[in-house]
Amino acid sequence: MNKIGTDLPFAAAQLRAGKLVGIPTETVYGLAANALEAQAVASIFEAKNRPAFDPLIVHLANFEQAAAFCTAIPDLAYRLAAAFCPGPITFILPKNHHIPDLVSAGQPTVGIRIPNHPLTLQLLQQLDFPLAAPSANPFGYVSPTTAQHVADQLGDKIAYILDGGPCEIGLESTIIDLSIAVPKVLRLGGLALEQLEAAVGQKLTLQTSSSNPKAPGMLLKHYAPNKKLIWADAAPQTPTVAMDKIAWLRFSEPLAHVPLKQQFVLSPSGDFKQAASRLFALLRELDQSAYDLILVEKAPETGLGRAINDRLKRAVTP
Ligand code: TXA
Ligand code: MG
Repeated sequence: MNKIGTDLPFAAAQLRAGKLVGIPTETVYGLAANALEAQAVASIFEAKNRPAFDPLIVHLANFEQAAAFCTAIPDLAYRLAAAFCPGPITFILPKNHHIPDLVSAGQPTVGIRIPNHPLTLQLLQQLDFPLAAPSANPFGYVSPTTAQHVADQLGDKIAYILDGGPCEIGLESTIIDLSIAVPKVLRLGGLALEQLEAAVGQKLTLQTSSSNPKAPGMLLKHYAPNKKLIWADAAPQTPTVAMDKIAWLRFSEPLAHVPLKQQFVLSPSGDFKQAASRLFALLRELDQSAYDLILVEKAPETGLGRAINDRLKRAVTP
């Protein structure tokens, strides 16, 4: 049978049997397994080639279910959940014994997220266990935003891919650590920092550096394509690559002095949402193109532009 489709009962049956299923979310596609079965979770790490020190996010049908897996949930978490769930936010909360140590990579906390995609929400409602799911890409590569991206890279390792169309947001969820006295943002993502701060009612500290031991998935070289990417403003005056082998990844305005076909524009109208939703697919396209060097322009550093720049920073060649 075809591995990509919309057969919910089949997807559910695979997950009940401890197998891996690709699931659509509003952010990126996930590689899902039963979060309560250490063996099933182990096969996620194996399929992705992901180091076991990198914890997984646990996906639930609604935030009320979090109480079954966490020892304490602050009021702020309920307030943020009421404002943004289902949606592109992950809460780090103290975990209880139901969550295997493999899921949390030995940490006393667990990432909880309610994905906003109708198919995956239906799937979660049909299951009597939550789904552990990292982004469905091999470790260190760009996250998938279509079912085909998942099939291209992990197709032979998973039982089924639930096709929910292209991801609406295209950037991974924003991660907020609520397991500590003063909340911190561990990853910029699909929920803009400004929106989160407005709901929290205060400025938030960011702890998203590569040395951050709490979110090891935020290693500096993490969203990397195979091609050489450099910041356009740091490019040498006389490039060592032939002009027709260079592509430009632009945020909005194409450059006047460069042939249009060599320019890849994230959003002609400068719309952050459109730019975010196209980012990973465009990085993949460039990676598979005949260009040898990609000159990358930064997005304006505000709203989703911050998260876009964060991913670009990880994609550029150090
Ligand atoms: O949008 C998303 O969050 C997607 C979709 C599939 O839900 N998932 C995703 O998962 O991006 P992943 O595994 O690619 O990234 C999860 C990040 C990693 O950086 C990991 O270190 C961090 O979340 N994380 C997970 N559990 C954590 C915990 N208990 N404490 C700190 N960081 C945690
Ligand atoms: Mg990932």
